[in-house]
Amino acid sequence: MKYRVLSSKIVEWYEEHRRPLPWRRTRDPYRIWLSEIILQQTRVLQGLPYYKKFIQRYPTVQSLAVATERDVLRLWQGLGYYSRARNLRKCAITVLKDYNGKFPDNFTELKLLPGIGDYTAAAIASFSFGEPVAVLDGNVFRVLSRLFGIHDEISSSVGKKKFTTLANQLVPVDNPGQHNQAMMEFGALHCTPANPLCADCFLKTACIAYANNWQSTLPVKKKPKKASLRHFYYFVVQRKGRFLMSKRPTGDIWTGLYEFPLLETEGPLSQKQLEKSLTKENQVYFNKINSMKVSSAYKHVLTHQLIHARFVELGLEMKNEQLDKGLFAGSKFYSPRQAAALPKSVLINRYLHETGAL
Ligand code: ADE
Repeated sequence: MKYRVLSSKIVEWYEEHRRPLPWRRTRDPYRIWLSEIILQQTRVLQGLPYYKKFIQRYPTVQSLAVATERDVLRLWQGLGYYSRARNLRKCAITVLKDYNGKFPDNFTELKLLPGIGDYTAAAIASFSFGEPVAVLDGNVFRVLSRLFGIHDEISSSVGKKKFTTLANQLVPVDNPGQHNQAMMEFGALHCTPANPLCADCFLKTACIAYANNWQSTLPVKKKPKKASLRHFYYFVVQRKGRFLMSKRPTGDIWTGLYEFPLLETEGPLSQKQLEKSLTKENQVYFNKINSMKVSSAYKHVLTHQLIHARFVELGLEMKNEQLDKGLFAGSKFYSPRQAAALPKSVLINRYLHETGAL
């Protein structure tokens, strides 16, 4: 089948089956950029409320550029991969300062902005500015690998090149944005990862995967890395109903999010070992431990990490100056209202809600 015909068939299908999504009703690069950053992180259904919240709170790139990192992280809370949220703000600042508040109108310049890679640059360039450049997301890789029977692993350099070249050959100069949306939507709704709708597919006769029954083996993906297991002990210290919390440093998961003082250990600790680690000579930050209650394990799954966390509720006799040292360094007391407004990981949020603190 000619590429031009293939594209027009998929576009035709799209016009009949497309979901009415808010970012499809606009050419505003700010809105398109925002939606694509969110959608890299989550599915459409989960992403929609975030998109609406962001547009409501930050209707323009200017309003996002002047927001604090804390506020942006708080609004992003629950989506994960928080560097995306920090880059979101950085990108808005760059657009405001270096581009006079206007997104550049082409793929090459868009890619120079913080947090914008090939995917997002192609999406903005084609949806907003009609540049004929292919958008390649997981959906598009799947559709192409099946239609053309491509067995190259999608993240290998050979694979990437092959898919990118092919995808760009398929993009028409006439309405490339619609073509790109159509490819993604076809992958999301019809050529799905499991149980694709091959029986009534209008591309059945052209599809190499269908002819060879390769639907479940394509696309070829790298085996996922085994997740590493981490053990977290969070110390929950309260004073007059306020919680001792601190901001996570850079260089690890959850940068910039707030949590309780944390002890990370190589393995699980018994209550005795836990007490010992708190009262070791070099770790005496308080006068006396009055009580200690250890929660059951909270398991939290991230892409490459599995976290086993326990919350250790401590009743302490402590002097103010002892807050500056070791485990508690950089921590401050926050009222439940203040704590609710801080950006937190889903794990910390879960604990606070389950215990009725928030
Ligand atoms: N997934 C990624 N980008 C999308 C878009 N623009 N519409 C629907 N799903 C998407």
